[in-house]
Amino acid sequence: MVTGAAGGIGLALTERFVAAGMSVVMADVEEETLSRESARLESDGASVFGVLTDVRDAAAVEGLRDQALSVYGSVHVLCNNAGVAPAGPMADTTPSDWEWTVGVNVLGVAYGVTAFAQHFIDQGEGHIVNTASEAGLVTNPQLGLYCTTKHAVLGMSESLWRELHPQGIGVSVLCPNLVDTKIFESERNRTDGAELTATSAATLAPLREMIGLAGIPTSTVADRVHDAIVGDEFWVLTHEVTLPAASRRYDDLHAGRNPTDPYDGLIG
Ligand SMILES: NC(=O)c1ccc[n+]([C@@H]2O[C@H](COP(=O)([O-])OP(=O)(O)OC[C@H]3O[C@@H](n4cnc5c(N)ncnc54)[C@H](O)[C@@H]3O)[C@@H](O)[C@H]2O)c1
Repeated sequence: MVTGAAGGIGLALTERFVAAGMSVVMADVEEETLSRESARLESDGASVFGVLTDVRDAAAVEGLRDQALSVYGSVHVLCNNAGVAPAGPMADTTPSDWEWTVGVNVLGVAYGVTAFAQHFIDQGEGHIVNTASEAGLVTNPQLGLYCTTKHAVLGMSESLWRELHPQGIGVSVLCPNLVDTKIFESERNRTDGAELTATSAATLAPLREMIGLAGIPTSTVADRVHDAIVGDEFWVLTHEVTLPAASRRYDDLHAGRNPTDPYDGLIG
């Protein structure tokens, strides 16, 4: 089960799982891309089906579980991957920005847990992969909304590991730096009609450029996730910069320093 499976990392995860011989339920809110990609994979012989799902809707995620169980009988891997990445100063955010971002990035993951965890406990095995971000380990100005939600996913995932791992269920948290996807065009799926503010558009423009230049391929991330599931690894890091950047925060903490730039000296 992969959420956010119509494109980007979710589609690459789907393709990696199919290559490993798995059947995949692809959930996404982007109808056209979802039906195009699921039809393409099916015509290549994959056992997949797409389910139009907004992960902000708990009942829809429960429906997804029920549909998957009625078709396949059981679910073994759940990737709570759907996410959005608004940007811009927090002083310019609105309540609806927070509702949208927390809805997809935090509640979307939580509803995956509430819908599927008991199924995994009952069957005595399973693996949950939550897509957080390097932004769950470090903080960046202009990405406060996003960092807030990704820190929440990290905390949720670590607590979940502590509860489920003793019961034989794997939990992994994916924390990539830039990956070449459409994440900085997330407003394409926003349904509340909110317009991009000038400061948000100005923040996103260089990020969109940077992700195309520096983002790693989605297939690299998908391979890493596959190996983490097989190897029962919690931390799924994909970039060399992540660990030293994250460590900087604990250096600040140890030294009793106010937050310093996590990338100072690490990125040219
Ligand atoms: N691309 C990066 O650099 C990067 C880095 C770190 C973490 N991430 C995380 O990776 C995950 C996947 O993002 P991506 O980079 O592939 O971006 P993407 O925009 O290409 O893919 C995100 C997918 O989620 C879907 N989605 C959005 N809102 C949804 C909703 N309410 N319900 C169901 N599906 C919804 C989109 O339609 C899209 O298919 C996200 O959680 C993102 O925060 C991405």
